[in-house]
Formats: sequence, C-alpha cells, structure tokens
Amino acid sequence: MTKIKIAPSILSANFSRMGEEIAKITENGADFIHLDVMDGSFVRNISFGPKLIKESRPYSKAVFDAHLMIVNPWNYIPQFADAGADIITVHYEACGDKLKETLKMIKDLGVKCGAVINPNTEVDKIANVIEDIDMLLLMSVYPGFGGQKFIPEVLPKIEQARKLIESTGKDIDLEIDGGITKENVRAVKDAGANVIVAGSTVFNEPDRASVIKYLREI
Ligand code: DX5
Ligand code: ZN
Repeated sequence: MTKIKIAPSILSANFSRMGEEIAKITENGADFIHLDVMDGSFVRNISFGPKLIKESRPYSKAVFDAHLMIVNPWNYIPQFADAGADIITVHYEACGDKLKETLKMIKDLGVKCGAVINPNTEVDKIANVIEDIDMLLLMSVYPGFGGQKFIPEVLPKIEQARKLIESTGKDIDLEIDGGITKENVRAVKDAGANVIVAGSTVFNEPDRASVIKYLREI
C-alpha cells in the first residue's frame, strides 16, 4: 500500500509570518507543503508567487508542492523551479494540448511534475501523459478559494485515476485537493488517494499536529 502523505495548504496560513507557519506545520508532521499559486486570471483570486516560496524554502525540509493555478504556466515555471519547488503541478485546463511539453519543461529543470484536473474534467483527458508524471492531482472543489465544500461526485474519479495509475506499474502519487475534512478523509483514501491536501481543516484547528495525525492514520 502506498504511503499516505499529508499536504497542508498554506493558503489558510497567516501570510504575515509565513516562514514561521511553514516551520511549525512541518514540525507538526506535514509531509508536503502545498503551495496554491493563483493569478487572478485562471482563477478569481490572487495568492502569491515564486518570491514567497523562495524566501520560505529555508524554513522546511518538507516537499514543496507547487499547484499552479495560472494561465500560460510555461512563462513562470523556471522561476518556481528556481524558488525551490520539489514538484510543480499544472492544470490540464490551462495547458490544453501543450500539457505534455509543459510537463517535459518541468522535468528538464530537474523538478518532479504533476498534472491536475478540475472536478468537471474527465480522467481520460490526462491518460496520454500518465507515464510522464510523478503525481496526478484531482480537484474536489473548483479552484480559487480555501474552505469550500467537497464535491462527492469526484469519488468515482479517484477510483478511476487509481486504476489508470496501476495500469502503468509506476509509483505515481494520487493527490486530492479541496474540502477535505476529518469526516470525508477516509472515503478519499479508500477510493485510492494517497496525498491529502488540507487547508482550513489543518490551519483552523489549534492542535494542528493531532489533525495531521488523524488525517494520516484514520
Ligand atoms: C483551492 C486550492 C486548495 C485549497 C484547499 O483552489 O487549490 O488547495 O486551498 O483548502 P481547503 O482544504 O480549505 O479546501
Ligand atoms: Zn491546491
């Protein structure tokens, strides 16, 4: 069985002391630091860019997992690689038929790559790149904001994506992002997800270490 990894999203952290927040959440057991980059164009929100990531990098040895919700990601990928991202994930909806070459661009910079699809995009759309990626990310909310409600219709897609991954015989992570709570985490794991993003569920709790442990072990 693939190891479960917990990826707190810093979108729900306090931005005025990000280095400290990232250091603390790492001590509390985070495996990945999920970095939600939003440009106000691909999604209706603006978050942060490579400078915040670069300056936060020394605060943690956890995997820096950059989820790019931006148009024309190829224009900025070198900056995110330089900032210290360990994995860069790009949207099928932002790349279209340039997805394969965009993933290759990430790999050529020595960084792991991931593809992500929105709740209404079929898993089949990324089947042609499954052999190229280190991680497949399924959105379980429409991207743009933390604290939204999990869309349960995504559960069968998790199962379908896990089967697709298994068909490759490769060790590809399956990440789920959006609306994960203590109540639904078991269902997403049972369906086959092994990297669990959690923003508000982790950051809104005073005892973050216990929440991370719960999400990993339940
Ligand atoms: C949504 C982001 C998510 C989000 C997760 O656009 O990609 O990573 O911040 O936050 P929660 O866990 O609060 O839904
Ligand atoms: Zn995200």
